[in-house]
Amino acid sequence: MDFFSSENLDSLNKIYRINLVNSITGYKSANLIGSISNKGAENLAIFSSITHLGSNPALLSLFVRPNVVPRNTYKNIKEKKVFTVNHISKEKIDDAHHTSAKYDENISEFDKTNFQPEYKENWGAPFVKDSAVQLGCKYVDEYYIKENGCSMIVASIEIIFIRKGLLQNDGWVDLSKGDIITINGLDAYALPETVKRLKYARPK
Ligand SMILES: Cc1cc2nc3c(=O)[nH]c(=O)nc-3n(C[C@H](O)[C@H](O)[C@H](O)COP(=O)(O)O)c2cc1C
Repeated sequence: MDFFSSENLDSLNKIYRINLVNSITGYKSANLIGSISNKGAENLAIFSSITHLGSNPALLSLFVRPNVVPRNTYKNIKEKKVFTVNHISKEKIDDAHHTSAKYDENISEFDKTNFQPEYKENWGAPFVKDSAVQLGCKYVDEYYIKENGCSMIVASIEIIFIRKGLLQNDGWVDLSKGDIITINGLDAYALPETVKRLKYARPK
């Protein structure tokens, strides 16, 4: 097997280490965060750190990188207290990846890609039109991670839109029916296949 110790990691080339450490924890969710500033500047950015935090109340979390450069998504979330989470489908991978480019806050990624903003249910942030799963989220709290300067944002899921055909009778959402992709590392996009669903596990 290939082997690394923490001493090895420290001596690795920067890009190699980024690729290695970003991929070893497994496949991650792929989402576009839609937000808007107080001045009305829309923003769209890909995030792979959005995770389910709890179902009652319905919460999710995401990690924002250190504020050493302008972070438009973070700034907008703090200003407006609302944002959207939108799933990415197979045919939108290139545009989704492009939203990670560092654009000035006055330039909207909606104008630099084929994604279109969609406003509905009076939600104060743009959804991504035609995304199979769209969540309207509200900022709840923030936890600074002193070890690396990142921040964990906790948000409540306030409104949910799911494309017809994905929602199953028991509430489970079959993401594979929307060709929704996942991320391996920082630049490899994969299309998962459901192998099976199992019953709630109980001790034998
Ligand atoms: C696949 C992928 C996943 C990413 N995930 C995150 C993430 O979880 N948190 C983060 O702060 N940045 C993440 N980024 C970087 C942001 O997309 C990038 O910094 C973007 O420019 C942020 O835009 P903003 O300044 O408009 O918020 C990711 C980039 C890529 C390509």
